[in-house]
Amino acid sequence: MQWQLHETGFLPTHDPITRLTDPVLANVERLGADLPQLVHDREFRTRCSEYLKVPIDWPALLVTTAEAEIERMFMLFSYFASAYVHSPGLPPTDRLPACLAVPLVQLARRIDRPPILSYASYCLHNWRRIDPAGPISLGNLALLQNFSLAQDGKEDEDWFILVHVDIEARAAAALNAVHSAPIIIAKSDVVAMTVLLEQTAASLQLMNQSMNRMPEGCSAEVYFRKVRPYIFGFNNIVYVGCFNDVSQTYRGETGAQSSIVPTMLMALGIRHKNSLLTQHLEDMQTYMPTPHREFIRGAASMRDFVLANKNQLRDPYNACLDELIAFRSRHFEYAVNYIDKKVDNPIATGGTPYVPWLRQLIEETRDFHLS
Ligand code: HEM
Repeated sequence: MQWQLHETGFLPTHDPITRLTDPVLANVERLGADLPQLVHDREFRTRCSEYLKVPIDWPALLVTTAEAEIERMFMLFSYFASAYVHSPGLPPTDRLPACLAVPLVQLARRIDRPPILSYASYCLHNWRRIDPAGPISLGNLALLQNFSLAQDGKEDEDWFILVHVDIEARAAAALNAVHSAPIIIAKSDVVAMTVLLEQTAASLQLMNQSMNRMPEGCSAEVYFRKVRPYIFGFNNIVYVGCFNDVSQTYRGETGAQSSIVPTMLMALGIRHKNSLLTQHLEDMQTYMPTPHREFIRGAASMRDFVLANKNQLRDPYNACLDELIAFRSRHFEYAVNYIDKKVDNPIATGGTPYVPWLRQLIEETRDFHLS
């Protein structure tokens, strides 16, 4: 199944639902609402089972529940799992109790994503519009689920995630443009391709303007101490009652699980040299929603057509490349300022030695410039 692009890009076509209305799930909603306070009081681990003690027939529920509700349930349970495993101030644990593990794993199977908090839940399905008639853009966005209370960095956590949401919304025009490339290539329409590349560059430029706003509302200090600790992966965690109680390892949440950059790489014909790092990027695609993954794989490269019509298309193509390089360069700056300067042994939430890696990706993108 391929993702059907609308004006929302990879964000859901309808805004995420803000509450589960089925009375059976009232306590799940209550646990979501109380999570930041419980985490703050270091009581999430000991008290989460109280909320979930009335048994729920998950298989029956999942069969009859619509996609939007499933996404919200999965978002809540993946937050619960990360709150449990990464509880700041408590000793490490290697077990996720059955009351969290069983629904999480069943939801993950239904939704075809790994049973851990990933970008699609953390960002794509975790926002609402303040004015429902207004745009999906910073200033009109609020977060649905937090780990943190106001005194623990909630505002920075909100901003960190909502900048991603804004970027996803700004990318929609570029994604729609590159999606229409095969028709233009089939017609060999150089004028239409010029317009398409200009639209793509304009959309990437708007993404960059959003990216530049990260420090306005999310400081490196608060990000590092209060936001980042919850989004690491799980190493050898037993999901009690699942996988025959054999421990599981999953990557943490990272922007590398966003489908925008991989789609743009395909469309602009940028192929990185094979390495452990590109394997990591491939691996990150298994954390994306299946239709998004299919969309990336189906994206056609425009590069050969651009090369065949280099005189007319070189400049608009290079403009797209320049915006992508600007995106990756600003992003690299954040990786250095928000993480690298604060740690001795820098390994990202996604589990990579990211500084040389991100630098290499920028250099390789530059190599695709047309002269
Ligand atoms: C303070 C802000 C940010 C920091 C500190 C940060 C940090 C990182 C790090 C350390 C990596 C390597 C991760 C890994 O191991 O998977 C990474 C990858 C990535 N991040 Fe971010 N990130 C930030 C914001 C964003 C935003 C807003 C986006 C937009 C969607 C984004 C998109 C990406 C992408 C696409 C990759 C894969 C590398 C690439 O293709 O260039 N990041 N990020």
